[in-house]
Amino acid sequence: MSSLAASDQHAALTPAKVIQPAWVRTVHWINAVAIVLMIMSGWQIYNASPLFDFKFSSNITLGGWLGGALLWHFAAMWLLMVNGLIYLTLGFATGRFRKKLLPITPAGVIADTKAALTFNLSHDDLSKYNNVQKLLYAGIIVVGIVIVLSGLSIWKPVQLQYLTALFGGYDVARYVHFICMAAICAFLLVHVALALLVPKSLRAMIIGR
Ligand code: HEM
Repeated sequence: MSSLAASDQHAALTPAKVIQPAWVRTVHWINAVAIVLMIMSGWQIYNASPLFDFKFSSNITLGGWLGGALLWHFAAMWLLMVNGLIYLTLGFATGRFRKKLLPITPAGVIADTKAALTFNLSHDDLSKYNNVQKLLYAGIIVVGIVIVLSGLSIWKPVQLQYLTALFGGYDVARYVHFICMAAICAFLLVHVALALLVPKSLRAMIIGR
């Protein structure tokens, strides 16, 4: 935690200082719903023809069988793609990506990783991301784009054959799609754990709730 006294922290984080604008919170939660549906239906699709030597438990899959899972996957796909396009468009148009996610420097990432591991990371201004956060957020946006493109290339490998070829063919695109899913799951574990670790009182001051 910072060296600021509790009262100073309170003053610095009045409800007026809302970190995330309304549009970011809206697309974030729509995205959360879409991603959970995509992951759970994806696991059911995977179970019909596993790439590796394991299957996902039916308690955590969606759709009941391959056909049902594909219906869920393609329905949630539209939600994810439309919402994702709105997010990317607004992120670039409002300058949010440039302001929040840049610059990311290797030296900054190393310094902030060291600081985090030794519990010396500054939390004085939560509206500014540290270099590790910037790298992870920028990285997960790229993973999001790759999972959509690889998904499109295994959905329509004939119509979108150039895209499929770009991935090295259907089989490779399928592995890429799966690995992106695994990266998103790993990101979500850390992201949700950290969100839960931020004290409720502090969160109320940050987002005005
Ligand atoms: C929006 C774009 C997406 C499209 C068009 C799409 C399309 C597809 C298709 C066609 C399959 C079936 C592959 C096969 O027949 O083997 C599939 C499988 C799968 N999808 Fe997606 N998907 C998309 C996004 C996502 C997202 C966002 C996730 C998770 C975060 C995801 C997770 C999975 C998983 C885990 C599988 C099973 C992998 C396999 O065994 O091949 N997909 N997807």
